[in-house]
Amino acid sequence: MANWKEHGTIEESNNWVKEFAKNRSLLKDIEVVVCPPFTTLSSIPQLIRAQQLPIAIGAQDISRFEEGKHTGEVSAKMVSEFASYVIIGHSERRSDSGDTDEIVAQKVKLAQKHNLAPIICISEMKQVEALKNLVPSFAGLIAYEPLFAIGTGNPDTPENANAMAEKVKAIFQNTRVLYGGSVDGNNVALFLKQGQIEGVLVGNRSADASFFLEIVKNAN
Ligand code: PGA
Repeated sequence: MANWKEHGTIEESNNWVKEFAKNRSLLKDIEVVVCPPFTTLSSIPQLIRAQQLPIAIGAQDISRFEEGKHTGEVSAKMVSEFASYVIIGHSERRSDSGDTDEIVAQKVKLAQKHNLAPIICISEMKQVEALKNLVPSFAGLIAYEPLFAIGTGNPDTPENANAMAEKVKAIFQNTRVLYGGSVDGNNVALFLKQGQIEGVLVGNRSADASFFLEIVKNAN
């Protein structure tokens, strides 16, 4: 799963898709989701369809409001016209925009209402416990992303990430767990072979197609 964060003009994102089209054989046994900024949520799916690439689209966030007087917000319903996934509760949203566990829960409910699959980011177990209280029946994707590992080049150990994934699944039985935090082409396979980690959420190494293709190649 590629989280481009605040990167990617229309031209840059078109070039990214074209690089994938040249390497389409790598996409055979792997599910790839790209999460671009809102501004390219419309153009990327068109290009992916034209190239017949098996890549799904996710947004990086949604509004906690259904609709209305909320300048600058983009609703779950609007996003659902372009995307099938949405990242919710990324640590950068929690720190930059003050997303609390309650706000995360509101967004999760709106995503589910509008058929968007949430990828809920957590960095510690107390956020998982809060989610259990607020959305007890949640089933889907949870990404474990420890703060010290995000954008630092200092990933968690695969063993520790696997232990966290196990703890998450003890609370939410029907979840798949992703690991995120300084994933690259050299370490991706170490996380995926642990047993409890079903995928990776990649930031830094995702907006540049060559780095992300290296991850896809080594994840297979
Ligand atoms: P990183 O970011 O790969 O740059 O560490 C991961 C994330 O923030 O999702």
